[in-house]
Amino acid sequence: MSDLLNDAVFQDIRDYIYSESGIHFSESNRSILESRLKERLRTLDTNNPASYLELLRRDKEETKFFLDAITTNLTRFFRNQAHYDTFINHVIPDLVKYKGSKGDHSIKIWSAGCSTGEEPYTNAMVLKENLPAGWKIEVTASDLSLKSLMKAKAGYYPASRITGIPENYLSKYFDTKDDGYQIKDEIRNLIKFDYHNLKFDAGLKDLDIVFCRNVLIYFDEAAQKNVINHFYNSMATHAYLFIGHSESLFGMDTKFEFIKTDWACLYGKMLS
Ligand SMILES: C[S@@+](CC[C@H](N)C(=O)[O-])C[C@H]1O[C@@H](n2cnc3c(N)ncnc32)[C@H](O)[C@@H]1O
Repeated sequence: MSDLLNDAVFQDIRDYIYSESGIHFSESNRSILESRLKERLRTLDTNNPASYLELLRRDKEETKFFLDAITTNLTRFFRNQAHYDTFINHVIPDLVKYKGSKGDHSIKIWSAGCSTGEEPYTNAMVLKENLPAGWKIEVTASDLSLKSLMKAKAGYYPASRITGIPENYLSKYFDTKDDGYQIKDEIRNLIKFDYHNLKFDAGLKDLDIVFCRNVLIYFDEAAQKNVINHFYNSMATHAYLFIGHSESLFGMDTKFEFIKTDWACLYGKMLS
C-alpha cells in the first residue's frame, strides 16, 4: 500500500483526520497511521487510499468508523496511582468541604476519552468509597471510539484486564463471570456513556472534576487549547482537571491554575 499512499495522499488523509478530530499524525507516526488505514481498507476490501479519502469526505458514518480505527485505546483500572492518591487525599476532601458548606451534596465528574471504561469505573468506585454517605455521584464518560464505548458500557473485563484493583474494591464492586469480572450495576448505573468527539463542545455544565488523561498527546497545540477551553467552560467555579502525567498545559495560555499536591500535580479552576 505504501506505493499508493504517496506523500500527497498521506498529507490529505492526515489533514482530514485532524480537521475531523484534532488528532495529529506527525511524519514520525506515519507507519502507525499506514497500518491502521491498511486494516480499515482490508475490511472494506479495497486498496486505494485516494478513493477511500473521497469516500470519507462524503460519508460521515464511514468517517466515524475510520476515526475509531485510528485511535489508541490503551487504558487500565487505577491508572497512575499518584493521581488516585491526589483524588482521594486532596480533591475529594476539598470538594466535600467546599460543596458541603453550600449544602450541595453532589459530585459531577467527566471522563473525557474514557476508552473501554476502566477510568470512569475507577472514578465511580473511588467516589463511592470516599464520599460521605448520601452524596450523589454523576459520572459522564465519553469517547469517539464506538468499539471502546460498547465494551465500556458492557462493563465486563477478562481476568487479564483486572490488574491494579485493590482487593477490597474487587470483591465489593465486581462479580466473577465466565473467565472474567462484571462490574456491578450499583457502579455501572452511576455512569452515562456517550459518543462524543472532543473537537466539539460537549455542552456539559457545572462539572466538579474532569479527567482527560492520555488523550491530549494525540492532538497538536491548537487542538489541545481548543479542548482545554471547552473543559474550562464546562466546569463549576471550584473544580479540578486531571490530565495525563506526561501531558502538560505549560506554555499554553489557559485560565487554569497549576496545583501541586504531595501526591501529583493537577489543574484547578478556582474562582470561588
Ligand atoms: C489512550 S486512551 C486513554 C484512556 C484513559 N483516559 C486513560 O488514561 O487510561 C485515549 C482515548 O482517547 C480517545 N480519543 C482520541 N481522540 C479523541 C477525540 N477527538 N474525541 C474523543 N475521544 C478521543 C481515543 O478513542 C481513546 O479511547
